[in-house]
Amino acid sequence: TVPVVVAIDGPAGSGKSSVSRATARALGFAYLDTGASYRALAWNLLDKRVDPSVPDAVVASLGDFDFAIGTDPDAYFVRVGATDVTEAIREPRVTGAVSAVARIPEVRSWLTERFRSIMRDTAFDGIVAEGRDITTVVAPDAPVRILLTADEEARMARRSKELTGESAAAVGEALRTRDQADSRVVDFMKAADGVTTVDSTHLDFEQTVSAVVGVVNDRV
Ligand code: C5P
Repeated sequence: TVPVVVAIDGPAGSGKSSVSRATARALGFAYLDTGASYRALAWNLLDKRVDPSVPDAVVASLGDFDFAIGTDPDAYFVRVGATDVTEAIREPRVTGAVSAVARIPEVRSWLTERFRSIMRDTAFDGIVAEGRDITTVVAPDAPVRILLTADEEARMARRSKELTGESAAAVGEALRTRDQADSRVVDFMKAADGVTTVDSTHLDFEQTVSAVVGVVNDRV
């Protein structure tokens, strides 16, 4: 049987990752964090001292970019070669480099192919895939497509709770800059045709997961 794909997009700090993972767990589905894959590439480039802002150099290095990502929601990991980078890809230097990498068309199509084969080959009954262009580019035919939003204030408050030692202002500024750069490449600020918006501004975590699971149950 063909696995059910649940496509979820949204801006940084919308709670996408944790909500998507909890949704996958609730449904018995796999979970694919596409942003982590872009981050793994950015990490790898920094590790190899390749300038992420030089497209030719980035594209040339795709040939030996060997990454693996765990899609069991209870056993999440990200690896590059033999190195576990699950934590390292969250470092500010990686976050600061990732948008430059993600804007390169060859990088996007290379990773999109990987995402599609992961979705197709999953051993689970379905997969919750989360990112910026899943509903529009990676899996536009998915039976469930959701845009997870929250107003800017709520997103910043959530993100500054995750990051310790950084001022709310600095966190807000970094978030805004990254969303601006990313939304020039793919539009995840408004829902595409047929995409259901879930606004989590006034919902807590559990309520948001219930709302998303509810959308899935209405569709499949
Ligand atoms: O979701 P996360 O914040 O971890 O994503 C990291 C970066 O990866 C984003 O800032 C964006 O540049 C890129 N990305 C993307 N398309 C996706 C997912 C992530 O361009 N589908």
